[in-house]
Amino acid sequence: MHPGHFFLALVLTKFACALSPTVVHEKRVDHPSLIHSRRLEAHVAVPLRIGLKQQNTGHLPLHLLSVSDPQSPHFGQHWSAEKVAQVFAPANESRDAVAAWLVGAGFDKERLRMSHNKAWVHVDNATVDEVEALLGTEYHVYNHHESGEEHAACDSYSLPAHIAHHVEIITPTVQLNIKLGSSSTRCSKRSKRTGPAPVFPLHVPAGCDQAFTPACIHSLYNVTYVPKATDRNSFGIVSQAPATYLQSDLDTFFANFTPSLVGKSPLFVSIDGGIVEAVNGTDVGEDGWILQYTMSLVEPQPVTMLQVGTLITGNFLSFNEWLDAVDGLYCTSNGGDDLTYDPQFPNLPIGDFQEHSCGTVKPPLVISNSRADFEYRLSPFYTARQCNEFAKLGLMGVTVLFSAGNAGAAGTTRGYCLDDNGSVNLNATHFNPGWPGGCPWITSVGGTQVKANASGLASTTGVAQEEVWNQDMTHGFFVSSSGGFSNRFPMPQYQRAAVNSFLEKLKKTNPEQLRHFNPGGRAYPDISANANNFVTVENGVFSLDSGTSGAAPTVASLITLVNDARLAVGKSPVGFINPTIYSPNFARAFNDVVSGTSQGCKGWQGDRGGGFQAGPGWDAASGVGTPNLGLLIEKWLALP
Ligand SMILES: *[C@@H]1O[C@H](CO)[C@@H](O)[C@H](O)[C@H]1NC(C)=O
Ligand SMILES: *[C@@H]1O[C@H](CO)[C@@H](O)[C@H](O)[C@H]1NC(C)=O
Ligand SMILES: *[C@@H]1O[C@H](CO)[C@@H](O)[C@H](O)[C@H]1NC(C)=O
Ligand SMILES: *[C@@H]1O[C@H](CO)[C@@H](O)[C@H](O)[C@H]1NC(C)=O
Ligand SMILES: *[C@@H]1O[C@H](CO)[C@@H](O)[C@H](O)[C@H]1NC(C)=O
Ligand SMILES: *[C@@H]1O[C@H](CO)[C@@H](O)[C@H](O)[C@H]1NC(C)=O
Ligand SMILES: *[C@@H]1O[C@H](CO)[C@@H](O)[C@H](O)[C@H]1NC(C)=O
Repeated sequence: MHPGHFFLALVLTKFACALSPTVVHEKRVDHPSLIHSRRLEAHVAVPLRIGLKQQNTGHLPLHLLSVSDPQSPHFGQHWSAEKVAQVFAPANESRDAVAAWLVGAGFDKERLRMSHNKAWVHVDNATVDEVEALLGTEYHVYNHHESGEEHAACDSYSLPAHIAHHVEIITPTVQLNIKLGSSSTRCSKRSKRTGPAPVFPLHVPAGCDQAFTPACIHSLYNVTYVPKATDRNSFGIVSQAPATYLQSDLDTFFANFTPSLVGKSPLFVSIDGGIVEAVNGTDVGEDGWILQYTMSLVEPQPVTMLQVGTLITGNFLSFNEWLDAVDGLYCTSNGGDDLTYDPQFPNLPIGDFQEHSCGTVKPPLVISNSRADFEYRLSPFYTARQCNEFAKLGLMGVTVLFSAGNAGAAGTTRGYCLDDNGSVNLNATHFNPGWPGGCPWITSVGGTQVKANASGLASTTGVAQEEVWNQDMTHGFFVSSSGGFSNRFPMPQYQRAAVNSFLEKLKKTNPEQLRHFNPGGRAYPDISANANNFVTVENGVFSLDSGTSGAAPTVASLITLVNDARLAVGKSPVGFINPTIYSPNFARAFNDVVSGTSQGCKGWQGDRGGGFQAGPGWDAASGVGTPNLGLLIEKWLALP
């Protein structure tokens, strides 16, 4: 244990006696996969953490736009990590108020500790009954109906009104982060090729609709650039243990498609116990696929695999582990002494991690994630906090990309949507936006498929040879590119012109659809790339993988090449790209996806399938379109 600072210096009386009404701070909605089991036992210890309100986060969007809007005089002038930490750190006043409240509620001050980053107050050995009294709540245990895993949470909790504005989030409380179905969190879909392995070389680029290879990306997306600033550049993909890759699979793939890479591995960074070795139950398909393509596309630029250990968290999904690793200010722990990740009890095996990775990783300039969650499952405080963190990375010049997901406008591949009260069920008809697609400060990548019999050559007209990715599934409902509108985050300025033009068209062509989503929300995806029929090698066998899991790392690879071109001439990396890619000057640097539709809810499919239809310009199925790298590099080199 690293004892933190005790709160000896404060003026307790200033707050302790103030009687104040309580307000509900966070609450969660029901989840169909959870079965209530029992009240959590009163004596169980809860690793109580109070996340203090950060300062100046209201100005984050302005600061971010000032360094990433191509019209801004400060374009590209990213902030140092130190400046970011200093500007947003919580105020002493918040720390003191929270400490006084806890002491007033009967927690001895010896039990309170401050995290090293001054952002979290820890309460030692708090028990369920103590925390229930403090937060006016009850903790219950729920079982996940498929895995049987136990999760504990409260439905909501309250704070005194005079404390609430000093607190961002309290853990563990309402967060559950369980997974809804195997394909809902991982943006991929496997379809094993049956019959004989393909004979290489395949006939590409024609045939990219049937078997998509690196040659298809080179051809379709006009990729001829060869990196020359690899010493200054960096590119990371986030992976979640026990998923990993087999070097033998990489080598077989490289031997066929990128011979110069045979024998090469990604750089490896372990976060919270991530391990590269394949163990029993390890999935080597998804990471293998992503590495085969990213390494091939940016070669000779090394690719870093940021491997997050999930030996403790099992089926949980969180982006906080790697965010903790790249930003010590964000993370909840002192480093090394406890597991402070969101859903973390009952029976938390404290100390199981040798080291909680907190601020241990310098963020790569481009970070690609192939997983997605749902907005409705996370509390507004939680999503606000995480979204701010993505904005901070953008402020530091990091491009953060996420797969949009594989579930169309519905949240899940089985077509579950949202009721009026925010719960999900199969008959519901409100579109169910993903997370973090709804955060305006990340770049969300949707999926396309190459049209049948397309030439596979780069478009000379600016219109893509691709349509929206949309495939039937034998089991379940469908898979198609996710996209839609956040119910929480308002539409950011940078996309207003593009999205409003889409909404205007919708009013004329399909006005009924407007009733099924929040047209004032942040709209996604921002951009797209092929998500269909990637040829990969898994466990020694050639197979075809599909999903936006492949689209995000493809776009991330091309942004890494843009960064190389800028770094090579002494310019800054591109950082947060959305204000740039939506700017009219960049429109011609994308292949506009104008056909195809994503899927809607099972409960409301309408006469057009219910999902979003692609058309000229931005749309909620394909974003601004797929990249034309040659043109993008020209345009980005013209910016300061
Ligand atoms: C905040 O408190 C610390 C001591 O815990 C002190 O060193 C620092 O000067 C204070 N900052 C401000 C702005 O008062
Ligand atoms: C918490 O409880 C454990 C076991 O009951 C004990 O060993 C430890 O000293 C306690 N920690 C504090 C800070 O009271
Ligand atoms: C992996 O699992 C199989 C069957 O489940 C078992 O026979 C084998 O011993 C396990 N191997 C290791 C290394 O745990
Ligand atoms: C939400 O509404 C649905 C019906 O539309 C109902 O079945 C469900 O019980 C409601 N849930 C809550 C938490 O009110
Ligand atoms: C959906 O509607 C059908 C038919 O009206 C009904 O039988 C079923 O129980 C409903 N399901 C849910 C989850 O509300
Ligand atoms: C693609 O080409 C094949 C063979 O020439 C033809 O049978 C098929 O109809 C074509 N499909 C489309 C969508 O043009
Ligand atoms: C591909 O990019 C190059 C610049 O690298 C550009 O000259 C060319 O016109 C682009 N090709 C197409 C088809 O857009």
